[in-house]
Amino acid sequence: RKKVTINTLQSLYRKNEPITMITAHDFPSAHVADHAGMDMILVGDSLAMVALGMEDTSEVLMEEMLLHCRSVARATKSAFTIGDLPMGTYEIAPEQALESAIRFIKEGRVQGIKLEGGLDMAPTIARIIRAGIPVLAHVCLTPQRQNALGGFRVQGKSTAGALKVLQDALAVQEAGAFAVVLEAVPADVATLITRKLRIPTIGIGAGNGCSGQVLVQADMAGNFPPGRFLPKFVKKYGDVWGESLRAIEAYRTDVKSRAYPAVEHTYPMPASELGEFER
Ligand code: KIV
Ligand code: NA
Repeated sequence: RKKVTINTLQSLYRKNEPITMITAHDFPSAHVADHAGMDMILVGDSLAMVALGMEDTSEVLMEEMLLHCRSVARATKSAFTIGDLPMGTYEIAPEQALESAIRFIKEGRVQGIKLEGGLDMAPTIARIIRAGIPVLAHVCLTPQRQNALGGFRVQGKSTAGALKVLQDALAVQEAGAFAVVLEAVPADVATLITRKLRIPTIGIGAGNGCSGQVLVQADMAGNFPPGRFLPKFVKKYGDVWGESLRAIEAYRTDVKSRAYPAVEHTYPMPASELGEFER
């Protein structure tokens, strides 16, 4: 497959072909996503929870994001890679955001960045783009602001809320964002916003009317045991947990019973040499 660029994404959008995006947080998860033909790979700050076991995304540091971005970048041959600016690295001023974005390109080795916010972030988005770094915006439910939003709640359910979301989406488009993530918003609102924009919308919990979709790989692939909370919008396509558990339990049983390693897993020694050694 050819390398996906910002032009590829634009051409998919023009052809009305859905853009596929998934998160990855390390070499193996990026390797398999790239192999599966994803158009975009996001090193989301959701890795705080799915890779580092943190409570929420507010804890993850720039250095941690950069380390994970680098490992993802090494595995990604085809997909367009995006790094998520973590909380605290872009809100203070456009110059701070640009400095952080540059670190993601130079040290993280990704091709673009994502940041959360709409109208309020427009000057920041514009500043980063002026430096030649593609920006993916993220509006509606912005998890880094969960404390101010009162938790992970669907946004844009009221007319006023929907208008605010539209205003944010238009603002990031005018600022130059190449696409915008719409998270947790009624499907009708996302569809209408998608129609009003001339850049792609990437939905997560935003229905089928968006220009593309994104999911957290660990959620959709089933990396966690059954019973762990998953948002309503997640479709669980796999059972990585179940398969890993089966494999590791089988290995454990084999070691305990000495069924593993078998002869075929060992290095033989020529009989003549062995005879010498045993004497
Ligand atoms: O951090 C993340 O994984 C994200 C996606 C869910 C859009 O921001
Ligand atoms: Na994120």
